[in-house]
Amino acid sequence: MGTVTVGAVRERAPGERRVALVPEAVALLRRAGIDVLVETGAGSGAWFTDADYTEAGAVVVAPDELYARADAVLCVAPPEAENAGTLREGQVLVGLLELRRHPELAEQLAGRSVRTVSLDLLPRTLSRAQSMDALTSQANVAGYKAAVLAADSYDRFFPMLTTAAGTMRPAQVLVLGAGVAGLQAIATARRLGAVVTAYDVRPASRGEVESLGARFLDLQGLAQGEQGGYARELTEDEQQAQRAALDAHIARTDIVITTAQVPGRKPPLLVTASAVEGMKPGSVVVDLAASELGGNVEGSEPDKTTVLDNGVTLIGAGRLPSAMATAASTAYARNLVALLKHLVRDGELVLDADDEITGALMGKTSPTEGVSS
Ligand SMILES: NC(=O)c1ccc[n+]([C@@H]2O[C@H](COP(=O)([O-])OP(=O)(O)OC[C@H]3O[C@@H](n4cnc5c(N)ncnc54)[C@H](O)[C@@H]3O)[C@@H](O)[C@H]2O)c1
Repeated sequence: MGTVTVGAVRERAPGERRVALVPEAVALLRRAGIDVLVETGAGSGAWFTDADYTEAGAVVVAPDELYARADAVLCVAPPEAENAGTLREGQVLVGLLELRRHPELAEQLAGRSVRTVSLDLLPRTLSRAQSMDALTSQANVAGYKAAVLAADSYDRFFPMLTTAAGTMRPAQVLVLGAGVAGLQAIATARRLGAVVTAYDVRPASRGEVESLGARFLDLQGLAQGEQGGYARELTEDEQQAQRAALDAHIARTDIVITTAQVPGRKPPLLVTASAVEGMKPGSVVVDLAASELGGNVEGSEPDKTTVLDNGVTLIGAGRLPSAMATAASTAYARNLVALLKHLVRDGELVLDADDEITGALMGKTSPTEGVSS
């Protein structure tokens, strides 16, 4: 019986502090009979030292040795061209590769006959795949951090406080988009004591919002958009009606956190510049969907915080999971352990395209195919 060797690389994308494996995960893989290489310094951004990895049973190596010896190379973000060029035929690259957004990388890897296992393609509603769901684990971190960032930038209390000096009213928080990140933002803002209202285009999210002690915003007469468990893209007219209906609520809110996404599409614009202008000075808007393609809030840019002329702080969130690198890496590494236990059979790495999970991760089937509505 052979032994599978996996190797966790040091992330090279600017500002990326996460790492694919943490020491705890190394120990679990070793126990499962998998050999683990870790690139020198790979964990430093998430506060794990090379000695921590060695102690857990990994061999810490230079990148050349890692690429030469690993059967599967483990990463978080897609690798840059230079590193992708080091991968060899038959080697497996595992990560949040987002190959549809990086066609040049997909082409480079295919050209070198590198096999890819891309965690962003996981069929999310399959219950046996839940432990491998890295999009969910990272969105959880992002949602938590978004609420904490909002609280940090807000110059008042989140909770209602009664002191000898009188009573302080609680912050009013509005969360737009109640998927994984939105629900975690709601839960976190609630734990901090804010009064939370939330809205999502999927009617099914109402129960989840209410179970967290938040109010679901009823936008009467507006289109609802669900397709196979995911949001559908609203038409331009529907989007305009939605923005108009949201404007009045936004003006009454101290904190807006937006997390709305439609898989494979540009994020919907939910908060216009005029809605932000209507907010009180000192209010805070966090756009978790901020991207180069635009976000949920007009004018937001990833990784950029601006205090606008009217005294509203607009935070374009860029890399929130990376900003909590230890928690995000720990959760991601657990996803990878579950995935590797699925892929390794009798000391061999088995990429079975006919397997429902593996086939989807290899891009052989669409992740939303077969998702029940
Ligand atoms: N294991 C599981 O069963 C599992 C795990 C994770 C996610 N999911 C489901 O997958 C789906 C996607 O979750 P996600 O967090 O990745 O979503 P996402 O990041 O794609 O989007 C975030 C939220 O934005 C909402 N949204 C999109 N357009 C909107 C608009 N115009 N206005 C308001 N809200 C809008 C979506 O409905 C979603 O709830 C959800 O249905 C979620 O429950 C299931």
